[in-house]
Amino acid sequence: MIRSRALRVLVLALVFNPLYAAPAQVPFDVQPAGMCFRLAKRKLQGRFLHITDMHPDPHYSPGASEKSACHRKKPKKDKTRAGYYGTPFSDCDSPFSLTNFTLDYLDKKWTDDIDFVIWTGDNARHDNDRRRPRTTDEIYHLNRVMANKMQEVFLSKGIPVVPSLGNNDVWRKNILMPGPNDITHEYSSIWKAFIPFPSLQVFQRGAYYSAEVIPDHLAVVSLNTMYFYDSNKAVGGCEFKERDDPGNLQLDWLEVQLEMYRQRSMKVWLSGHVPPTPGNYFPECYVRYAEMALRYQDTILGHVFGHMNADHFTLIEARDLDVPLDENSGGYMNGSDPIGPLKKKKDKLYRELIQDFSALPKAKHIDHDQFAVVNVAPSVVPNPYLPSFRIFAYNITGAPKKYSELSRRKGHGPTLDRKQACKKGSAYQETWWCQLDKPWHSDGDAPSRTNTLWTPLGYAQYNIRKKRLNGSSKTRKPKFKLEYTTFPVSALHPPADLVASKFKYPIPLRHLPRSLRNSTVTESKFAPYQMRDLTIPAWVELAQRLARPKKEAELRRQFKKYMYQGGREG
Ligand SMILES: *[C@@H]1O[C@H](CO)[C@@H](O)[C@H](O)[C@H]1NC(C)=O
Ligand SMILES: *[C@@H]1O[C@H](CO)[C@@H](O)[C@H](O)[C@H]1NC(C)=O
Ligand SMILES: *[C@@H]1O[C@H](CO)[C@@H](O)[C@H](O)[C@H]1NC(C)=O
Ligand SMILES: *[C@@H]1O[C@H](CO)[C@@H](O)[C@H](O)[C@H]1NC(C)=O
Ligand SMILES: *[C@@H]1O[C@H](CO)[C@@H](O)[C@H](O)[C@H]1NC(C)=O
Repeated sequence: MIRSRALRVLVLALVFNPLYAAPAQVPFDVQPAGMCFRLAKRKLQGRFLHITDMHPDPHYSPGASEKSACHRKKPKKDKTRAGYYGTPFSDCDSPFSLTNFTLDYLDKKWTDDIDFVIWTGDNARHDNDRRRPRTTDEIYHLNRVMANKMQEVFLSKGIPVVPSLGNNDVWRKNILMPGPNDITHEYSSIWKAFIPFPSLQVFQRGAYYSAEVIPDHLAVVSLNTMYFYDSNKAVGGCEFKERDDPGNLQLDWLEVQLEMYRQRSMKVWLSGHVPPTPGNYFPECYVRYAEMALRYQDTILGHVFGHMNADHFTLIEARDLDVPLDENSGGYMNGSDPIGPLKKKKDKLYRELIQDFSALPKAKHIDHDQFAVVNVAPSVVPNPYLPSFRIFAYNITGAPKKYSELSRRKGHGPTLDRKQACKKGSAYQETWWCQLDKPWHSDGDAPSRTNTLWTPLGYAQYNIRKKRLNGSSKTRKPKFKLEYTTFPVSALHPPADLVASKFKYPIPLRHLPRSLRNSTVTESKFAPYQMRDLTIPAWVELAQRLARPKKEAELRRQFKKYMYQGGREG
């Protein structure tokens, strides 16, 4: 609902102003007074970088054994030895040569082509060497080194960077007390250049904030998922009864942010380290997050996270809001496995996803109000896969849709089940499951639902192949290559009736393998999914296809291959 007259005038101006089609990016004022560089005005490119889980390790030693976390020569009989630029599919973290190589590469090859960077945490090594336990000082030091490098590579060129806190960025791992505390203070200093000044106070309390990466149009919310993550034993897990729990305070804050951005007709990416899934989050944190993801579906462009290191996506669904049934009955995760009996832990994540997708309605036209999509990107650290990063392309030419002021969603109140489970005296009455009955803002014309201004169109993912990483040395550098793209091949080149100079290439041609630079090619192993865009309907359709074991056996094989980058689940 548009409240103020000024806002209404602004919206009208946006709708009728042809210049609005490609607003110039005026980077927000991130630098504190006295910082030596000025942010230059940049032309919008319609792309952003998602980079995550770099895990630099100052003790990494080329030639060391994998068993020693690549720190020492011993044991002699360990055949797997640390490579100069990293050790593929291993338990070792990143040498600085790899994090430097990656960021220098992005600096040289990509900074002209992107508008902002989402950077989702874990910038310290793992605690995987008993002989060299991590310390608070080391963790802060590694984070400072990485933050300085990100500042030098991106921010100094006027590219906003939005970092978030990882579970390995704190000591002890996974544990973060309610703020303000030493950790939130330290990061407000380490990330001073990235956090917009007006957000600093909120940051010091909770280590979350939001940044307008395209002022007045597009914001990125950086969540502190440590307050939702069920491995953090220092917090209560968003229980309804505990309104001052830091997870609840963060979700209260998020709700205000989303409402505010919605009233300003802005669009928002939500980002953070640990992805919102029932397996990762405390139950009441998850149900509140899921409900907000659906309630603000017309404002949220997507959800980008890291932490898992494996490339995949998950769906947040309306049924996730149902009051939990008793553990052993019903539910879609009741142990039946459409791929066959679960053997040990092998490919567990893949199997769980296919199981989820298999429970989707089969119909082509399903109610897309009921879904949100979480994109999880693979890591830079080759532990346990290969060094990777992801470039998203988004629409900067469409006209903003003016959609209904009130939610179009009607009759999505609590289901009968819920009424029963939430009646007086029930065990759930005093939980979030029984409080979530506000109307939803979902709209088929929103950019998360149809291709229009700000809609994510596709991504290209790059990695260093195993052989190249292991075969690299001080003198032989590794190489990032396209792993795959979500785009159909046809979308990578101008349509026949358009001259190339009028066409905005979603992926600059020089970043495509030679075979894809040829515009007459129609199929490619680099384009397995052929997604028209990255709207919710497009993702749900991909999930439905992945649920077909026979017809889409090849697609499934590919999906799994990309998830583990040709290896096995680590
Ligand atoms: C890298 O290659 C060498 C042989 O060229 C091999 O001994 C070593 O174990 C390989 N490392 C990994 C991690 O594959
Ligand atoms: C990484 O880059 C920084 C400067 O950005 C430099 O000081 C450092 O020596 C480099 N380390 C390696 C191993 O290349
Ligand atoms: C639960 O598993 C059984 C088989 O063990 C299956 O018949 C049933 O359909 C499953 N229920 C749901 C809701 O998936
Ligand atoms: C951007 O959105 C507009 C609709 O507003 C659409 O016509 C156009 O094709 C989209 N651009 C791309 C590159 O998909
Ligand atoms: C492009 O591909 C077509 C076949 O699809 C081939 O005939 C042509 O030679 C290729 N062009 C170049 C420049 O490689």
